[in-house]
This record gives sequence, structure tokens and C-alpha cells, in this order.
Amino acid sequence: MTLVPEDVRTKAKTLRAEIEYHGYRYYVLDDPVISDAEYDALFRKLQDLEEEWPELKDETSPTMRVGGAVLSELRSYPHSERMYSLDNAFSAGDLQDFLSRAIRQEPSAAYASFWLEPKMDGLAVELIYERKKLVMALTRGDGEIGEDVTHNLRTVRNVPLELKGDELFAGRLEVRGEVVIKRKDFEKFNALQGARGNKLFANPRNAAAGSVRQLDSTIAARRPLRFYAYGIARAPQECGWKTQQACMLALEKMGFSLAPDAKLAASMDEAVQYYESMSIKRAELPFDIDGVVVKIDDLGLQEKLGYTARAPRWAIAVKFPAIQARTRLLGIEVQVGRTGVLTPVAILEPVSVGGVTVSRATLHNEEEVRAKGLKVGDLVLVQRAGDVIPEVVRPLVEERNGREEEFVFPDHCPACGSRVYREPGEVAWRCENKLCPAVVRESIIHFASKSGLDIQGIGKRWIEQLVDKGMVRRFSDLFRLTELDLRGFERMGPKLAANMIEALRAARETATLPKLLCALGIRHVGEQTARTLAARYADIDELAAAAPEELTALPDIGPEVAAAIRAFFDSDANRAEVAALKELGLWPVQPHIKNNAAVSGPFAGKRIIFTGTLTKWSRSEAEALAERLGAAIAKSVSRKVDIVVAGENAGSKLAKAKELGLTIFDENAFADILKAVSVQDTAEGTEKARDAQLRLFSD
Ligand code: IVH
Repeated sequence: MTLVPEDVRTKAKTLRAEIEYHGYRYYVLDDPVISDAEYDALFRKLQDLEEEWPELKDETSPTMRVGGAVLSELRSYPHSERMYSLDNAFSAGDLQDFLSRAIRQEPSAAYASFWLEPKMDGLAVELIYERKKLVMALTRGDGEIGEDVTHNLRTVRNVPLELKGDELFAGRLEVRGEVVIKRKDFEKFNALQGARGNKLFANPRNAAAGSVRQLDSTIAARRPLRFYAYGIARAPQECGWKTQQACMLALEKMGFSLAPDAKLAASMDEAVQYYESMSIKRAELPFDIDGVVVKIDDLGLQEKLGYTARAPRWAIAVKFPAIQARTRLLGIEVQVGRTGVLTPVAILEPVSVGGVTVSRATLHNEEEVRAKGLKVGDLVLVQRAGDVIPEVVRPLVEERNGREEEFVFPDHCPACGSRVYREPGEVAWRCENKLCPAVVRESIIHFASKSGLDIQGIGKRWIEQLVDKGMVRRFSDLFRLTELDLRGFERMGPKLAANMIEALRAARETATLPKLLCALGIRHVGEQTARTLAARYADIDELAAAAPEELTALPDIGPEVAAAIRAFFDSDANRAEVAALKELGLWPVQPHIKNNAAVSGPFAGKRIIFTGTLTKWSRSEAEALAERLGAAIAKSVSRKVDIVVAGENAGSKLAKAKELGLTIFDENAFADILKAVSVQDTAEGTEKARDAQLRLFSD
């Protein structure tokens, strides 16, 4: 190893300090003192230096913020202190009740002051510092176990990679806060997504949550994420803070951004006023908030009050009512989805509802339109509730002028003119034309989307164009596209075209059977059912040959699902399409089943759930292993689960399993059973399961 000369070390250190300082001025204080170009120049200098002297590499270097680490999965870790949720209040009365409960338990709460903050609408994250350096970032997860998202949080511009300030915290500090995307940044980012033909996000919260859980940190690095601290897991002994306020001000000094408008209130009346003023001010805040949080300020009192099973007794969220606005219902458009269902959508005169422009809102089905009594031309009340999806609340009947028109649900498909029909017991109307262009387009969009094969960079907009030009009529056509075919499109350079072809190739080669089954869009076959089927059948041909009674013998597959699967494969067109995919090489095979190892194994046909932290494998490796032995993986604990494998720190799922009297294995027992069954390791075995199993035998 070469020794880095002292002057180079000093240079790197100075550059890092400078960059961190200017980043802090820009991203935390919002008060830069140099231009963007000057900042970029400093950054590049440091990058060059680190490239020249790789020994300088350091996790706390600001160059880490561009990302780089790409993981194959997110690992789970237990929180050292549980991350609680908050109880909700909706009125001044609820707030008084909260205080009365606290006083009943601790009479001194009658004299409490309150630390007030906006309730930020993002994703809770815990940042762990050791000797002042950021060492880990975890999502909240189920409160007990979170996912390791350190690689992504390192790229968040206002997260200190190293704590500023004096000698405090030689040990460990766990800072909790919310990751959000500011509304302005969100609009810019979403516009860019759209321009690139990528998926649009419904709201900043979804975008933030999706970004934090990315495996590739360069993706997170390109998303405008910000972290706002709202507390710590536990006050370190040496800190001496007595109040929430003192703790928050200390965090600010260490370099964290705090929620804007946080303040101390001397009484509950003041807290109520704060709630009212914030409900007016919310649209002016840089990011979405859905209420305020009221926290008893005294840390000693917080400790005495403690927690219920779900939430602290010393804090409460006061939620805002949904934001409403009035606007005109210009029309009702009927859209045809991939399953042929006709969905009425309200076309609205664009109106800002709490900072988001709303111009469309789903009306779900004909019944809903009738139940709401909507007429085209009505003035209507629209709202965005907690989950930010806009909805039409009701027509303002008192504002009618007589020119409003009754909405008549079409009896023919608006896309192809075929007749529509309704199945008994269903509210939805469907287009009867299996080749309806809208159904075809939406099916192909689904096929390529995240819930299908997840073909990178081939989003809705590109597929719409490909279908509209007649270049893609069925799934298999996608894989016949050439770079030349794509070059005719607007905004399509040679690089993008090459990338798209490469993405198609990658999707074709790496598709798993469950993913392909989801992508095909067989009715009632979602992720869980696809996994169950893939655990039983080696490939699509085997599944296509299965009789309904064989299907219903599988866990969770009822007659309706079995019939849908049969109907899909009984169609000549579908069979031809499946054959075409096979011909093109899109043909995932589950080799363990072909070898017949699973059908008779101890896990064959069993439903298994894993909970807690495993030490021998990651969660997904263990799942792959169990699936390879014929098990179906359950998502939640219920009586239908056969085996619960509980790792360390297993929480509520284990408790529930005990309550239900299910069979519970610890990790070792699970491992012993695996050792006892001999599964021939085939060369093509799914990689994860193979690695996991090899490790088992080498332990
Ligand atoms: S304090 C033990 N303060 O709200 C107290 N939470 O509904 C824990 N949140 O999971 C939370 N803004 O993600 C706190 N100023 C704030 C917050 C806040 C948003 C989120 C947080 C929590 C959720 C609970």
C-alpha cells in the first residue's frame, strides 16, 4: 500500500471541511455563501484527489453523497429502542383529554410545557452515530426491526456524515427524524421522470419512501431527499439535557435540520392555537404536513409517563382535517383498464388543494357516481385526505343553475365500441373485447411495470407510444424491438435506445417465475398467488396443464382463482403468446421442482413465515431456500400458516403465532431440518438458495 503524503492528506481534509461547510450553509441553513459553480469545482477537486489516492477513501467524505453502493437486498436490524408510533387527536377536546390522562398518571403534568412541531408527512428513519460518525441508518420497519438503508441516507444532502461540535458523544447517539421531499423539488423531479418516460409518483411521500428503500444508492442520490430530526432514541448519559427543547437545540448544533416552526408552548391553550395557525400555514411550508405533534417538554416527565403498546403517553399527533376545495366538474371520462374494467374519472377544472393541483379524481364505478349524485357541470367539493389521493366529496347542489347534465354510463366500450357486460355480484362494467386496444395497452404497461417484469426505463409513456404506433401489440413484441425501431421516436437518442434494448434483454434473462406470472396479468393472480404457484410448478407449461382440482389443493387458491388460471390458459391466443415468450427466451424455470426434490420434502405445500433477525441467512435467502423446498411464504401470521421460523428479537408476529398455537421453529431447528433433507444442488438452482444452502453446510 502506498503511503499518502502528508500534504495530500491535509489538502483532502481541508477540501472536505470546506465542502461540508458550504453544503451545510446551502442545505441546512439555506444561506449559501458561494455559487453553485464554485461548490461544484471544490467537489470535483476532492473527487480527483480521492481518485488519485484511493487510500484516502473515507465513509464520511462528502463525495460519498453521490452514491455508489448497490445492494442485492436490504438487510434487517433490530432497533436498540423500539420506534413507537403516535396516537392521533383531531380536536382541541382530544388534546385536553390527552393532558388529563397524563395528569391522572403524573399530577405534575398539570404544570407541563409542550414542545410543538409540524407532523411531517414522509418516512421515519433512525440515524446511528458512533464516535460522531454516521454508521447506520434504519427505516422504522415494524417499530422493532428496521431495514438498513445506510447507503441511501449517506447521500441525503442535509444528513451530517459526522457530527459537528464539542467533545460530547464519544459513544453512540441515535437520532430519529423524517425523510421528506419538498413540494417544489418533488414537482421538478416528477416532471423529469415524466420527460424520461419513467413512472410518476403520486405524491412527495411516496417518492420519498420509494427512494429510501432503493438498492442502488446512486438512484437515491439523484432524488431530492431531506432529513429533519425530531428526537433521539434515548438521551446519552453524558448529555445532561433536561428537556425536549434542549435536546432539539443540541441536535441543531450538531448539524441537523429541524422541522421549521418548532416551538415551545407554556400551556395547552397555546398548543391549540399553534394547531390552528399551522393548519392555515401548512400550504406555505416547504413540505407536506398532516398535523402537528405536541410533546411534553420535560424529559423526566416523559420517562415517568412511558409508553402504551403503540405510542408514547407524553406525545400526541393532532391531525388536520382533509383539505377541501371547490371546483367545477367539467366532465366524466371513462377509462378502460387492463382487466377491461371501465372506470369513470372526474375531469376537474384544475384547483390547488393544499398546494397540489388536482385536475382528475377517480370515481371508482357507476354506483359511486350515482350515490354521490354528481352531474356534469356541477360545482363540487374535492379533498385530499391523509394519503393524498384526491377525491370528489359531493356536488354543491345549492349552486346548480339547471344546465348541469346527467351522466349516462356508456353501454359500449369507449376505446373499441364493443359491448360492455357486468358479472353477477360485481359493480364493475367490463369491455367484452379481449383484443380491446385499451386493454392491450394497459396490459402491456402492467407487464413492464414494477408489479410485472419491472423493465427499467420502459414506463407507461414509452409503451403508449409503441402501442399507438402499432409496433407492440402483445408482450412478446417488446422483445422483438431493435434499436433501429426505437430511433424513430422523439427524444430518443442512440444511447437511450441502446439502454432500452439492454433493459429488455436483462428483464428477459433475469425474470423469475413468480414475476412472470404476475406480469401476465392473469385475473386474481397477484404476488402471493404467483409465489404459491411457482413453488409448485417448475414452469408455465406445467402450470398450464394443471387441472382446477390440482390448483385448489394449493394453499390459498380457491375455485375462483383456479378457474381464472384455467380460463387464461384455455385461450388459444394466450397459449400462443406464452409459446412466443418461450421461443424468445423469456422462460424462467424452477429447477428444484423439475428435480422433484420439493414435492415430497418436509416443507412441500406448507406455508411458512419468517420473523425476527436470522443470523445464517438474510430474510430473503431463507425464503428462497424454503420456497426451493416447496414452501409458500406467508406475509402475515394467521391460522393458515403452518410453520413460523423465529429469529432473534422476533416481536409481535411471534407473539401472535404463540397465541394461535402455531408450530414455531428457531433458526437452528429450521437449519437442522434443512440439513436432514437432501436436496440435490442443481447447477441452475436459484442463486440465492444455492448460496444459502452452501453456507449451511460449511458452517
Ligand atoms: S415523534 C415516540 N415528531 O409520525 C414519538 N413524529 O404517526 C415518535 N412524524 O412514525 C414520533 N413528524 O414518522 C414525531 N415532529 C414529529 C413528526 C413525527 C412526523 C411521524 C413519525 C412517526 C409518525 C407517527
